[in-house]
Amino acid sequence: MTAAMTGHRTATVTGTGPGTGAGALLEVSELDAWYGRARILNQVDLAVARGEVVALLGRNGAGKSTTFRAIAGLVEQRSGRVSFAGTDVSRRASYEIARLGLGYVPEDRRIFTDLTVMENLEVGRQAPRNGAPSWTPERLFTLFPNLAEMRNRPGGRMSGGEQQMLTIARTLMGNPLLILLDEPSEGLAPRIVEMMANAILELKKEGLTVVLSEQNLHFAALVSDRAVIIETGAIRYRGTMAELAADEEVRRAYLTM
Ligand SMILES: Nc1ncnc2c1ncn2[C@@H]1O[C@H](COP(=O)(O)OP(=O)(O)O)[C@@H](O)[C@H]1O
Ligand SMILES: [Mg+2]
Repeated sequence: MTAAMTGHRTATVTGTGPGTGAGALLEVSELDAWYGRARILNQVDLAVARGEVVALLGRNGAGKSTTFRAIAGLVEQRSGRVSFAGTDVSRRASYEIARLGLGYVPEDRRIFTDLTVMENLEVGRQAPRNGAPSWTPERLFTLFPNLAEMRNRPGGRMSGGEQQMLTIARTLMGNPLLILLDEPSEGLAPRIVEMMANAILELKKEGLTVVLSEQNLHFAALVSDRAVIIETGAIRYRGTMAELAADEEVRRAYLTM
């Protein structure tokens, strides 16, 4: 990798543009994470401003899920600083971080299969939060129209894509300020992918801050303002979606199979 490639992008990180430095809703610096003795994350820096949609891109095994899990307080062995909504959450437990308004949707859908769609949504309900969009089941059914038609269906009798949407909807019932979406388009049928992209664009319009991970550059480009690329646990690139689209060398180095 050329120095120019990484050096140039680093300049955008330390500048004064959106998602940089003071005033960021989420600010991650020098984040390391280990599973046992294996170091998985290496000095990850990431700043996200209010209202941004940022894509964390990288191939399978690059460290996307670990980054999200570490931010959400779900990796036991981590170091570095994570600041969220003005609070240092580096040492906080995952439930405390969630309570501050950080929503996390893992890549494996976690719905209650015995509960109906409505009951699953009720499980996620939290009080309205200052500065965050407020959600009700009815508003979520506008966001995910297909869920409206199955409100009394048990979660276990939904397709994978419907379960994915329900997981997101349930997280939104907590009225988060920011939502981490781990590979929201993964395994979805094309028609459902389009619904998912529309839903994320609606969330942005509502003012929600979104960080999503993706291997699918096409999907990320539909919904995101900018991209951050991770490989072997380290950030390798930052740029706008337009810059990344124009940079075939970076795409080939870090994204294509
Ligand atoms: N629970 C775990 N224990 C040990 N290693 C893990 C665990 N989860 C992930 N890893 C390893 O951490 C690295 C990053 O994984 P992950 O964050 O899941 O990547 P991605 O989400 O980008 O596919 C991979 O090498 C993976 O094998
Ligand atoms: Mg993953």
